[in-house]
Amino acid sequence: QSIFPQVAKSALTYEVVAQCSTSKARAANLVLPHGLVETPMFMPVATQASLKGLTPEQLEDLGCKICLNNTYHLGLKPGKDVLDAIGGAHKLQSWSRNILTDSGGFQMVSLLKLATITEEGVRFLSPHDGAPMLLTPEHSIELQNSIGSDIIMQLDDVVHTLTTGPRVEEAMHRSIRWLDRCIAANKNPERQNLFAIIQGGLDLDLRRTCCIEMANRNTPGIAIGGLSGGEAKEQFCKVVSYCTDLLPRNKPIYTMGVGYAEDMLVSVALGVDLFDCVYPTRTARFGNAITAKGVLNLRNKCFATDYGPVEEDCTCPICTPKSNGGMGITRSLIHHLAAKETSGAHMLTLHNVHYQLNLMRAARQAIIRDEFPSFIKDFFATLHGGNK
Ligand code: GUN
Ligand code: ZN
Repeated sequence: QSIFPQVAKSALTYEVVAQCSTSKARAANLVLPHGLVETPMFMPVATQASLKGLTPEQLEDLGCKICLNNTYHLGLKPGKDVLDAIGGAHKLQSWSRNILTDSGGFQMVSLLKLATITEEGVRFLSPHDGAPMLLTPEHSIELQNSIGSDIIMQLDDVVHTLTTGPRVEEAMHRSIRWLDRCIAANKNPERQNLFAIIQGGLDLDLRRTCCIEMANRNTPGIAIGGLSGGEAKEQFCKVVSYCTDLLPRNKPIYTMGVGYAEDMLVSVALGVDLFDCVYPTRTARFGNAITAKGVLNLRNKCFATDYGPVEEDCTCPICTPKSNGGMGITRSLIHHLAAKETSGAHMLTLHNVHYQLNLMRAARQAIIRDEFPSFIKDFFATLHGGNK
C-alpha cells in the first residue's frame, strides 16, 4: 500500500487489452492528453522539436502517436520564455499528438564531458557561452511544465551502465530523492504525467530497492533507465525482467534508450510497453536502411545499380510512392544521394521510422491474436536468413 497516496493524480488511463499466454507481453491502450497510444509503441526522437528532415505531417502520416523531445535542448533553445510565449512544444513544432520529454540529466552526462552531479542537481557549462549552469529537479520540471509535454520524466542521477561500486548505489538513492522533489515541483499533474526512472545499474538488489521505492511514489508510469550502455544482452534481459516482475502491472513501463528491433521485441516479451531511441533516425543519416533481413548500408557500391525498393514489400511512403505514377524510389537513387544530398537521409528516415512503428504494430497484433511466440520465431528466422 502506498505511503504517498496524495500523488496518485494522473493524466492518463492505461488498459491492457490482451495478454500473451506464454510470456509477459501485453497489448494496451494508453490514453494521454493528446490521444490514444496503442502499445507496445516506439517513440521517435525529435531532439530539436523536429525529426531531422521530416515535416510533422509526414511523421503523423507514418502513424506516429507520440514523439520525444529533450528538456535539455529546448531549455537552452528556444528557452523557457519563448516556450511560454508560444504556449509549449506542441505549438512550437506544430504537433497535435503526444510528446514525452526526457528530463535533461542523461543528455548532459552523455553530451558534456564537464557535467558534474551533486545533491542539488547537475552542474554544467552552457554549450552556447560557457557560463556555469545548474539543472535541478525543480528546474527540469519547471522547463517540462513550460514545454507542456504529455509525459514528463523525473531528473535522475545517471551513471554509465557498466559502472560498479558505491557510485551506482548513490545514484539510485539520489534518483529516489530527486523523484520526490520532481513530484513536489510538478505544477500540472492533471495534464502532465510524471514518470519515475528506475536506476541501479546491473545490480539486481539495487534495482529491487529502487523498484519498491519508486512504485510507492505511485507515479502514473515508470521507466527503466541506465540500460543500453554496452552491457551483455543477458544482463540487459535480467535487469528488465527483474524490474517488470516487481513493478505494478496496471501502469505503462518504458525502457529508455532501447531501439534495436531485437532488444525491443525481447523487452516486449518481458512486459515493456514504450521505447525510444535515436538509432533509426541517426543511422538513416549514415545511409543505413533497417529491414526485416538486417541493416543495409546503401552507400555500399553494390547498390549503385540496384533498382529495387529499399525493402521489398515495405509499405512505407518511400517503398510504395503514391504520387509519381508508381515509379518507385530505388536503392540506386538513395545510394546516389546518400553521399552529398540530405534528401537521401530524409527518405531513409521515413523508411526507418516506419519500420520501427510497424514492428511494434505487428507485435501488438500478434499479442492480440495470442501468436506472439511464433511472431518472435518468424522475426528471428527472417533476420538471420539475412539479405539475399
Ligand atoms: N535515456 C536513456 N537512458 C536514460 C536514463 O537512464 N535516464 C534518462 N533520464 N534518460 C535516458
Ligand atoms: Zn520502406
